[in-house]
Amino acid sequence: MSADYQKDGQIAVITLNNPPVNGLGLATRRAVVEALNQANADAEVQAIVITGAGKAFSGGADITEFGTERATQEPHLLSVIGAIEQSAKPVVAAIHSVCMGGGLELALGCHYRVVAPGTSVALPEVKLGLLPGAGGTQRLPRVLGLETALNMIVSGETVKSELLAQIPGQKLFDVVAASADSLRAEALEFARGIADRRPLPLVRELPCKHPQAEAYLQFARNMVKGMSKNLPAPLKCVDAVAAAAQRKFEAGMQLERELFTQLMFTPESRALRHLFLAERAASKIADVPADTPVREIRTVGVIGAGTMGGGIAMNFLNAGIPVTILETRQEALDRGLATIRKNYEAQVKKGKLKQDKYEERMGLLTPTLSYDDLKHADLIIEAVFEELGVKEQVFRQLDAVAKPGAILASNTSTLDVDRIAAFTQRPQDVVGMHFFSPANVMKLLEVVRGRETAKEVLATVMQLAKKIRKTAVVSGVCDGFIGNRMIEQYSRQAGFLLDEGATPQQVDQAIEKFGFAMGPFRMGDLAGNDIGWAIRKRRAVEQPDMKYSATADRLCELGRFGQKTGAGWYDYAPGKRDAIPSELVNEMIAQHRKDQGITPRRISDEEIVQRLVFSLVNEGAHILEDGIAGKSGDIDMVYLTGYGFPIHRGGPMHYAGEVGLINVVQAMQRFAQNPHDDARFWQPAPLLARLAAEGKSFS
Ligand code: NAI
Repeated sequence: MSADYQKDGQIAVITLNNPPVNGLGLATRRAVVEALNQANADAEVQAIVITGAGKAFSGGADITEFGTERATQEPHLLSVIGAIEQSAKPVVAAIHSVCMGGGLELALGCHYRVVAPGTSVALPEVKLGLLPGAGGTQRLPRVLGLETALNMIVSGETVKSELLAQIPGQKLFDVVAASADSLRAEALEFARGIADRRPLPLVRELPCKHPQAEAYLQFARNMVKGMSKNLPAPLKCVDAVAAAAQRKFEAGMQLERELFTQLMFTPESRALRHLFLAERAASKIADVPADTPVREIRTVGVIGAGTMGGGIAMNFLNAGIPVTILETRQEALDRGLATIRKNYEAQVKKGKLKQDKYEERMGLLTPTLSYDDLKHADLIIEAVFEELGVKEQVFRQLDAVAKPGAILASNTSTLDVDRIAAFTQRPQDVVGMHFFSPANVMKLLEVVRGRETAKEVLATVMQLAKKIRKTAVVSGVCDGFIGNRMIEQYSRQAGFLLDEGATPQQVDQAIEKFGFAMGPFRMGDLAGNDIGWAIRKRRAVEQPDMKYSATADRLCELGRFGQKTGAGWYDYAPGKRDAIPSELVNEMIAQHRKDQGITPRRISDEEIVQRLVFSLVNEGAHILEDGIAGKSGDIDMVYLTGYGFPIHRGGPMHYAGEVGLINVVQAMQRFAQNPHDDARFWQPAPLLARLAAEGKSFS
């Protein structure tokens, strides 16, 4: 059973009981219907209260049922709601904590609703590329009015019950209880009070009126269209809600069902549902059990107050965790602190941060030049120059001063975490924490698991990541970890495309049209083209036979490092960030083609997108095979949260499955024939080849 049945005098109490959030899985749905039948058959029962056990009324659909047969087995949620509406005895929802999605739809089917203050209320289906499919689009406008309901359904955002209860004329809540503690008693009392009242009120019978419904809906359509260009669900939400105002209830329900079914089969919804599950799965590590003990992180040390160190420190200050930040020289420390202050002040100016909060956060920050001040830190993150010698010096010092059990982390982006760990006597406490720039903004955190990193350390860092609002993904040790190892192949392809006839703007536009936030050349100009230059110089020594386009080197030889030098792949007007196509760069590329004896050809946008995206897919497959990533969803999370991969495509590995792996492999075989490309790279990774042959996808 996943709903409990009890009697309190003449009132039957049905308690949804499916931890953690009383998801409306098959067993729960069945149990509610059975309990309703039982209550209706019991002559002593006068009224029924439905509530939720633990920390939610109901969070809605049971996500463990996604894609399984159980999700479509009767009783559907619609049937459960039907059974509630048809109950001969009044049904009162006693709502608390969380009332979302199907949970709210169920409550809207009840005859009355009593709510505890502080309840989070939402219909978040749009975030999964769907719309509420159990009457939410038809019933919510009837109790909250067209505008409030439309806003909630199109945005999927959570609203607190107190705010909703204040809306004049709202019919969502009949009673707001004094507190969560008194909810049950108040709901029981309310149920006793209305037990004899007939006829039973039904939300479906309420009118949905708006003084200028047509004009408002047209306005809403225009707004939503502009804001959701790659996602079909928000506009369908408008259509469904419009039906509440324009059609009879049953006709509206029918439209809701049709639109829901259409959305269910869109690639965008599949992508968003994949992302939702992948995000939750990323925090789980196959061989690190959920009950692994974690260490308490009360204070953090950061070494290096440069570009990364300052941003890293801000993450912890924002979460209320005190930080001690260490530099070698006073000037560097002052500069680092000034940057942190400037960042916070900009937030204050924009109204995103209150002055007192800013001061509170700065009050948690202690600057120092002495390692002695790090001896009490529970976690110390190093963000000094990217040189193994400097890292060695830092980690030897840390080993000497850090307290036993302190976690020692490196923010290195390319160096071997196992070698760094070996500089200490406690490799089990060493881990990589690879933040992305700007570290206080970017959601992604690659947690690099060294050969000897303790499970406890991993579990601690994964939990801490949630606290500082990062999406943490575990990566094994390799050059570039997951994200940068893949982006290197993507950048190489971008270079080959120039060699063969494309311009930087054509490449950028093609991939931006696909949905990337920024194409590779605009990205290079933003991040600094000199970073890749340094990596290529190192590669030239380590892997002299690695083929790549020399155009990027020519660009750097011209001093065009990007926005910071006022010129890169594009020209920039002083102080501006708009990328202006550069004649000089186009001539440089043309000259390079001549030097290489390449006759330029017209390259289609489709080929550009395929070469860039499939290069990520093939390297991703190698990464999975090498055990660097634990699951394909982890790779997708890295790309969605750290590299601007379009959300509605679900990440490179998911997208490859949508295209069909066999089609990906065939395209790669074509690319391998191209004399100007790297035929060896386009050999499909064995895992990719195998899955394609078996007709499977990565997940
Ligand atoms: P940065 O050059 O801006 O800052 C490094 C800071 O470390 C400087 O302020 C320097 O004074 C300080 N420092 C150097 N040696 C030190 C020592 N022995 N003790 C204390 N402080 C010392 O460099 P950035 O960009 O912040 O990079 C730091 C680390 O983060 C590197 O390992 C880098 O690979 C990594 N990283 C950088 C990213 C980026 O986009 N900049 C992204 C992700 C990782």
